[in-house]
Amino acid sequence: MTEKIDAIIVAAGSGTRLGFSMPKAFVPLHGKPILLWSLKQFLSFALVDKVILVVPEDLIDKTRKQFDDNRITVIRGGDYRWVSVYNGVCQSKAQWILVHDAARPFVNHTIIDDLVKKRSEFDCVITVTPEVDTIKEFKADRAGTTIDRSKVVRVGTPQLFRRSVLLDGFKAVPKMDNVPTDEAMLMERTGIEVGIAWGDPLNFKITTPSDFRIAEALLEKDKSMCMGPD
Ligand code: CTP
Ligand code: MG
Repeated sequence: MTEKIDAIIVAAGSGTRLGFSMPKAFVPLHGKPILLWSLKQFLSFALVDKVILVVPEDLIDKTRKQFDDNRITVIRGGDYRWVSVYNGVCQSKAQWILVHDAARPFVNHTIIDDLVKKRSEFDCVITVTPEVDTIKEFKADRAGTTIDRSKVVRVGTPQLFRRSVLLDGFKAVPKMDNVPTDEAMLMERTGIEVGIAWGDPLNFKITTPSDFRIAEALLEKDKSMCMGPD
């Protein structure tokens, strides 16, 4: 039997930096909630068995009604992103888990495919893009040492994990000094080798109002990125 892959889309954040009155994943982007754009990509990716949508508690009922599909499970998130991912993992029995930020609406099948292909080599694989800016350390108002950008990558989602390894990784959280910003940090802590798959800079995360304006402008300009009427 082939090993199953479930996708967890984390959509339980508040979107403080974006600044809308509703949680970020529910803000309409080109007329449809931000989370819907990536949901469609994962649901239509043939290797994905089911999609677990992790949302704020008070939006569970509304989301369940909106996405009435037996391949979608809607559950509540936690105060930190890793808790939202953990809640999602607890709903899955699949051997493999794809974790994706709802705030990255421009994920596509090529990105997902390049990632999942690497599961033959690694138990954890992350989507990365090259760093293009000059990167420096700083202290107060002084610039410090320049970091060789050819040695660093920008880490995004989707990320792929063997579920058993990811569950082991969560055990490292209480021992960490800082809250992990992604689950690949837990893999670092548990000594698991993390593979990389080159993604697409267009799969950026909507974090600030300027990101949102760029996303709207892209969809306005490139109608081929838009989805159908449903
Ligand atoms: N997320 C989540 N649960 C949390 C925090 C974040 O599910 N407790 C999700 C967000 O919904 C988002 C993704 O993780 O899809 C990436 O997080 P981020 O961009 O930081 O989103 P927010 O936390 O919503 O934004 P902010 O930090 O500006 O409040
Ligand atoms: Mg956040």
